[in-house]
Amino acid sequence: MRVTRLRLRDFRTYATADVAPGPGLTIVHGPNGAGKTNLLEGVYFGCTARSCRTANEREVVRFGAPAARAEVDLADAAGATHALAVGYAPGEIKRLLADGAPVEALIDVGFRPLVSVFLPDRLELVKGPPALRRAHLDQVVAAARPARSATKRAYSRALAQRNALLARVRAGHAPRDALCAWDRELARHGIALRDDRAAAVAELVAPFAAAAQDLGLRGTLELRFRTRSRAVDAQALAAELRERLGADLERGFTGHGPHRDDLALLREGRELRTYGSQG
Ligand SMILES: Nc1ncnc2c1ncn2[C@@H]1O[C@H](COP(=O)(O)OP(=O)(O)OP(=O)(O)O)[C@@H](O)[C@H]1O
Ligand SMILES: [Mg+2]
Repeated sequence: MRVTRLRLRDFRTYATADVAPGPGLTIVHGPNGAGKTNLLEGVYFGCTARSCRTANEREVVRFGAPAARAEVDLADAAGATHALAVGYAPGEIKRLLADGAPVEALIDVGFRPLVSVFLPDRLELVKGPPALRRAHLDQVVAAARPARSATKRAYSRALAQRNALLARVRAGHAPRDALCAWDRELARHGIALRDDRAAAVAELVAPFAAAAQDLGLRGTLELRFRTRSRAVDAQALAAELRERLGADLERGFTGHGPHRDDLALLREGRELRTYGSQG
């Protein structure tokens, strides 16, 4: 799928923009602050209804304008064309159109292209804390299997509930046994989440190694999913949670489970995070 045209209105620096990239590689050049990244962000916003730069979407609306809009025209390899449009006014629900028809979420749109943006701060994915890699992995799962994105939400909800209950038990407002039900719930979603992530990593292993080779990196490049728990099923994970209850109560939060997983990027068995070069 290729973006054949981008139209922006009141998006960042652009009052209006109308760009028709050619079929090959497109290079956008210009002085600092000219609006290059804004244009890239506009493509991303039109394809995903999200910003690739900020979680605070108000920032994308041009200063002084009430709303921003991004429209992309798409063409697939067979020549079929599609269109996506995203209208956004702060405080209001986004207006999303797929081939002119309103939709609730672009993730449900079959022809939506998968876009990947590399900004300098994306190096944090390699160098930064595990939470960033987990979040990225969960995005890969959501993009490749939209139906599975519910697992992460269910796990996060169960984790928040268990942590809240831990605080109540600590304060003497609830009995320890009350945690049993949440342990089971957390373990059930935890195993599902771990399996989703493991499946996503398994699919990424070969392309990652191939991309590393294309970049000319010497040595064996490897992607490895590091799970906190070795539990084979939900029952075993629930038992592990149970074993660590004392420590959790002391700490005040759940210290074990998929929210502590990590994705290791290794070269010759060594962490790129620690030993990799910048480039
Ligand atoms: N909501 C907004 N409304 C108007 N202007 C904005 C908005 N958000 C950012 N800008 C302006 O956009 C400009 C930055 O544009 P952009 O980040 O696209 O530059 P760039 O061409 O990528 O520059 P560089 O080469 O430094 O990366 C800044 O001048 C900033 O003030
Ligand atoms: Mg830039």
